[in-house]
Amino acid sequence: MSNRATLIPAGRQLGVIGAGVMGQTLIKGLLSAGLLTTDQVWAAEHSPERREQVARDLGIAVFEDYGAALPRTDIVLVCVKPSQIGPAMATMREHGPSPDTLFISILAGVTTTQLEAALGLPNPWVRAMPNTPAVVGEGMTVVCRGRDASAAHVETARRIFCAVGRCEVVDEQYCNAITALSGSGPAYMYLVLEALADAGVKVGLPRHLALELVAQTMLGAARMVQVTGRHPAALRDDVTTPAGCTIGGLLMLEDGKIRSVLARAVEEATRIVDELGRSASAN
Ligand SMILES: NC(=O)c1ccc[n+]([C@@H]2O[C@H](COP(=O)([O-])OP(=O)(O)OC[C@H]3O[C@@H](n4cnc5c(N)ncnc54)[C@H](OP(=O)(O)O)[C@@H]3O)[C@@H](O)[C@H]2O)c1
Repeated sequence: MSNRATLIPAGRQLGVIGAGVMGQTLIKGLLSAGLLTTDQVWAAEHSPERREQVARDLGIAVFEDYGAALPRTDIVLVCVKPSQIGPAMATMREHGPSPDTLFISILAGVTTTQLEAALGLPNPWVRAMPNTPAVVGEGMTVVCRGRDASAAHVETARRIFCAVGRCEVVDEQYCNAITALSGSGPAYMYLVLEALADAGVKVGLPRHLALELVAQTMLGAARMVQVTGRHPAALRDDVTTPAGCTIGGLLMLEDGKIRSVLARAVEEATRIVDELGRSASAN
């Protein structure tokens, strides 16, 4: 049986509230993975310009008022900003979703307890934290279970995110740290990638070549960790010849405190996610 047939039965749909950067990323990823067809997904958006753009680019129905679509909707993916959850769920409550509709949130910092309270109905919630490489099938997502969600609901969410990359089920206590590490992670990687490409230009390489070398090296090093299961330090030792150029480069990175800078960046991002969650409650 195909993924599609088991995720959404014929005639049923998945709705996306908020088709911004992440909503569109996930819809594109799910469509290109073949988990859904364009007639099995709808989105809701505020602005007429955004509705027109999403309908044109993704070929799906995009509503201002999604009330008529709710009776045939099994899963609602909530992709609004944390500060927008209160009004978005008030509208949802007015429309009255079916009691077994599964809600999946990707909101940074907003707990399942806050989500359940914002909707104010006994529907099951799964909290997820994906990242943008989902659009090319290389996303990293974690999912965790809300109070009224069953193991089957968590499995449904896991299958959605496995279609666009890897997905782990975790305890909710880790969610904010994960948001700061892998949710924000692509931005850190792009910064490192750009900086190393600049370094290539500094030592005389054409920019397009430097960028290709760095991107493939980052991909290759990450795959080495995943495929071999070896510790990154052991893999690093393998390429560090005594008195060679690599140890010279590594020592310069250590002089620049690369480890503590990265740790502090993730620590600061975690603090901000905690704050986003607290202020979402206040809205
Ligand atoms: N960006 C990332 O890399 C990333 C990664 C993981 C998780 N997240 C989470 O994903 C969520 C969305 O982030 P984003 O970057 O995609 O934000 P975004 O681009 O601002 O998208 C949110 C969209 O939802 C629309 N919206 C808000 N309330 C609505 C409602 N009641 N009905 C219909 N549409 C509504 C917004 O319209 P208006 O702008 O007109 O209000 C906007 O177009 C956030 O909670 C974030 O924490 C983001």
